[in-house]
Amino acid sequence: MTAAGSDELRAGGGRSYKTVQWVGGAVGGRPRLIDQTRLPGEFVEIDCDDVEAVWGAIKRLSVRGAPAIGVAAAYGAVLGARARGLADAATVRAALRQAADRLATSRPTAVNLFWALDRMRGVADAFATESGPALLERLLAEAEAVAAEDRAMCRAIGRHGAELIAADSGVLTHCNAGGLATADYGTALAVIFTAHEQGKRPRVFVDETRPLLQGARLTAWELLGRGVDATLICDGMAAQVMKEGRVQAVVVGADRIAANGDAANKIGTYGVAVLARFHGVPFYVAAPSSTFDLSLPDGSGIPIEQRDPGEVTEGFGRRTAPEGVAVYNPAFDVTPAALIDGIVTERGVIRPVSTAAVRAVVAPPS
Ligand code: MRU
Repeated sequence: MTAAGSDELRAGGGRSYKTVQWVGGAVGGRPRLIDQTRLPGEFVEIDCDDVEAVWGAIKRLSVRGAPAIGVAAAYGAVLGARARGLADAATVRAALRQAADRLATSRPTAVNLFWALDRMRGVADAFATESGPALLERLLAEAEAVAAEDRAMCRAIGRHGAELIAADSGVLTHCNAGGLATADYGTALAVIFTAHEQGKRPRVFVDETRPLLQGARLTAWELLGRGVDATLICDGMAAQVMKEGRVQAVVVGADRIAANGDAANKIGTYGVAVLARFHGVPFYVAAPSSTFDLSLPDGSGIPIEQRDPGEVTEGFGRRTAPEGVAVYNPAFDVTPAALIDGIVTERGVIRPVSTAAVRAVVAPPS
């Protein structure tokens, strides 16, 4: 893995940037991604030269957010596909499958990872009679399609979701579901960005999002970059902010949504949903169809990633808990569909949320 670009601070994301991109051709190119662990202090891009570099970038959250993980994995699979040479399609296909299997072990919760890798495996199977170089070109085209479709889905989510946001209202969000978490523009933040572009002037409360501070480090950076009114709060302040009547809607992203609408998202989201219901504030999830896992009837089967206790006791390098204390560090929780007032997808808003309504939007009869 090599560092590319500059370490110049590009405050607030006010410039255009690409969260994940493929640089160069299928044979000599590679994925380039923003190292999100260094934001907002430094803007550094890293080039990944092999599958292990992509795997590590996903694992340590250099690239994170469900759709962005899917795009990075698709590009990583292209790297892996050429690792044994391009002698014939069988060689490329075997290497692709090995790379996909490895990338699938990086993080368990975001279903976009597995969805994207399945697409790559499907292309390798469908074009197994082509030459090795031709199959590699097909694989890169598929990875580029995963990214392009995500960009389009995020824009559509923004358009549908903005209708749920009243002018001059307060909106609370948790974690980062912005351009940094997708190929571009975001899901939950797409709703906010679009409302802002429509002149609705949303006032956004940003949960800092313990323990890795995706809200403080990334969401605040993105909102400031687009000139959106943003106020950072500690996670434990959300109840008080709602009680004071400052929040008229909650919008969050998702990592995996079961067939009945139960939605996994960053740890703490479930608590926000409970608070929202208590205070009569509508709670919305924004996610593309690639985040739905219709093989799971409800959220009880969603695998929840457990992460290093050190993220809680000494996140960002300073120890803040005594040695020897036990730590529980699940990275995600599951908000029951009953607490979700609507799921904003690129195809429209699922509301009320039920198995039938999810199926009608995500897997309509052909
Ligand atoms: O651990 P992370 O930072 O990958 O968690 C990200 C989230 O929980 C996001 O809200 C989710 O992936 C949606 S991104 C559009």
